Amino acid sequence: IRVQEYRPQAFTNFTKEENVKAYQEALAKVRQEIVGKHYPLIIDGQKVDTAERMVSLNPCDTDEVVGTTAAATKEHVDQAIAGAWKAFESWKKWDMDARARILLKASAILKRRRLEACAIMSIEAGKNYAEADVEVAEAIDFLEYYARSAMKYAHFGSAETTWFEGEENGLMWIPLGVGVSISPWNFPAAIFLGMLAAPIVVGNCMVVKPADNAGVIAGFIADIMLEAGLPAGVLQFLPGHGSEIGDAMTGHPKTRFITFTGSVPVGLRIHEVAAKVQPGQKWIKRTVMELGGKDALIVDETADIENAVTSAVQSAFGFNGQKCSAMSRLIVVDDVYDEVVGKVVERAGKLTMGTGEENANVTAVISQKAFKSISEYQKVGAGEGKVLLGGEAPGEHNGKKGNYIQPTIIGDVDRNARISQEEIFGPVVAVFRAKDWQDALDIANSTVYGLTGGVCSNSRERLEEAREKFEVGNLYFNRKITGAIVGVQPFGGYNMSGTDSKAGGPDYLSNFMQLKTVTERW
Ligand code: NAD
Ligand code: ALA
Repeated sequence: IRVQEYRPQAFTNFTKEENVKAYQEALAKVRQEIVGKHYPLIIDGQKVDTAERMVSLNPCDTDEVVGTTAAATKEHVDQAIAGAWKAFESWKKWDMDARARILLKASAILKRRRLEACAIMSIEAGKNYAEADVEVAEAIDFLEYYARSAMKYAHFGSAETTWFEGEENGLMWIPLGVGVSISPWNFPAAIFLGMLAAPIVVGNCMVVKPADNAGVIAGFIADIMLEAGLPAGVLQFLPGHGSEIGDAMTGHPKTRFITFTGSVPVGLRIHEVAAKVQPGQKWIKRTVMELGGKDALIVDETADIENAVTSAVQSAFGFNGQKCSAMSRLIVVDDVYDEVVGKVVERAGKLTMGTGEENANVTAVISQKAFKSISEYQKVGAGEGKVLLGGEAPGEHNGKKGNYIQPTIIGDVDRNARISQEEIFGPVVAVFRAKDWQDALDIANSTVYGLTGGVCSNSRERLEEAREKFEVGNLYFNRKITGAIVGVQPFGGYNMSGTDSKAGGPDYLSNFMQLKTVTERW
């Protein structure tokens, strides 16, 4: 199979009128053809419906139903896992290149339908044009990157061994079997797709549960994978409530591995359930965990202040701070604190609020549950520091009921405060006044998380020190701390932020395989 070298997708330039017009046409098309659609379960190649439906609401106008999916029960989990094992018998024998071709075909379809996928997320998740565009680009990148990565595992003995006279020694990569993938709502296209495409391309069969709030885009993506030629049973689509079917999926004796992206509490719960051996189980389950963050950006007195301000505002408020990578802590060295914080507050104060479809800077947060939790943190924060911007949760905008929360900045917060330690997952930033550079680095490392972080500084010595001591999986210097690109910045955190499995990295596929050494004496 001949493919050109992997190159990430270019992003769309929305300062060009024709691109904005094309996006608006896609919104109209999606409103006509997809809004209101229902997606059933897919088990063993069959569409299966349920009496209960999961309803997906527009967060920017919560009176609007975007679409529905079926809601799987524990019985469906059993059927899906059985169906996946049945399909595994033949799927594992497929040629690696042939499996890779399915990903490449899916990529071609998604490229053609890129604007539709974006438009769905503007309506279903409140993403503005750039946020949706970057996400669909990432989804395509995952397909292209994992297809190429798979090819390097294609042949017997592809892993390196040392030559030994008189013998042939080969180290084979083999798929694990049937895995469960459970994904979050905040990257409902890219993460959902990346987490199923990677295990599938190396020969596993998957039971996938999208997030409770973003079933429509997940159904759209699952349909593309089937259209690209996945045989029945390789992909089982199982939307459902995590609290109802989660344990059944992860605790099932025939589940071989679990790939999960989501919050720390749910991740730890899955880890615990997976660790308990069930009757009839004959393996130690593998868990791949991509969890939350409490990500910090340090600005010191040598930094380019304008660049630091732009980096902080983009990192904090892109997609309303609903990214695991988002900056929720801004740490500024005392000498420049007033200048930097003043400018960040001024810049953030100019962000527009509105819907994803209107392409506002700040839109509504995903759900009533998130709205309640974030607005509660706004109140907690007001007692732990000085509210410099926002602080309100209007819950409506321009006469539309929605989960609207003002971008909020709270100054002079203590490093041990709740808003310094707990993931808020919304547009709320805690700001810290550090005595000096060393103090700033100490504050940055004072949580249990280790996902993303950044430093804005012109001191080579300090950047080198941060390279070694800043405890995060993705560290950025003199730029925003969000927006990792597949293959360019392999993504994932350590400490409580996860197993550092590095999605979009050169070794990611090995999470879903095991090695077997075969020796033949000649
Ligand atoms: P969540 O943990 O609430 O839910 C994630 C998924 O787990 C959902 O599909 C949910 O239905 C399911 N779930 C719930 N209970 C379960 C159970 N007992 N067993 C199995 N599955 C269960 O997270 P969320 O609100 O969807 O997403 C936001 C979180 O995800 C944030 O903490 C964010 O930092 C994190 N996140 C991490 C990364 C990363 O790469 N590290 C990327 C995106 C999001
Ligand atoms: N991969 C996403 C980012 O880097 C979460 O922002």
